[in-house]
Amino acid sequence: MTSAEARRRAYLKALEIDVYTMRGHGLPDGSQDSTDADPSDSGAPDWGELRQQVAACTRCVLHRTRTQTVFGVGNQLADWMIIGEAPGAEEDRRGEPFVGRAGKLLDEMLRAVNLSRDSVFIANILKCRPPNNRDPANDEATSCRSHLDRQIELVSPKIILAVGRIAAQRLLNTDAPLGNLRGQKHQLGTGRIPVIVTYHPAYLLRSPTQKRKAWQDLCLARQVMEELRE
Ligand code: URA
Repeated sequence: MTSAEARRRAYLKALEIDVYTMRGHGLPDGSQDSTDADPSDSGAPDWGELRQQVAACTRCVLHRTRTQTVFGVGNQLADWMIIGEAPGAEEDRRGEPFVGRAGKLLDEMLRAVNLSRDSVFIANILKCRPPNNRDPANDEATSCRSHLDRQIELVSPKIILAVGRIAAQRLLNTDAPLGNLRGQKHQLGTGRIPVIVTYHPAYLLRSPTQKRKAWQDLCLARQVMEELRE
């Protein structure tokens, strides 16, 4: 391993950022070389390993106050991935995303476009509950990002629905207000996965007159999916 690479690894380790290396091509010094590596054996965690990493995660302060981590739930081969903000009190208790009142409304929103909770994969930007339901801090979202990115990689969805401002801004790495982000198709990463932004169901419970706009967003997402099939 070069000294620059060794410094990079030490830096990433100090930040508790996992370095995924290709397996099976060890160099004499014990490091790994990705040349000619089998892409199916990339060293990135599979579902079981990722679940364990999330459950044991102590990258940010939220591990001190959580009851348990909230990994995500649903079809691991889903076409649709739904991404919310962070677990609330009920989710922290039950270990599942969107199980409170907002979750019930999310289920109804999904049913409106002929989707069931089991047919999609639901995850959050954060896997641990921020105390008193405060907004995720920058460092918390950054620390959690590789968990989410790996979930997206593993599910490899055809479309992502980001629910709420925080989820949309974090996912798309922007400060733009939700009103500007909804109503258009965004794209995520090198895979250019289409992302549609809509209101958070908790907001819709407080502001039911906005449900009409959420319906428009769901119709846009459905239309994007239909275009992909053509
Ligand atoms: N709100 C979210 O964003 N995610 C949940 O899991 C629950 C409520």
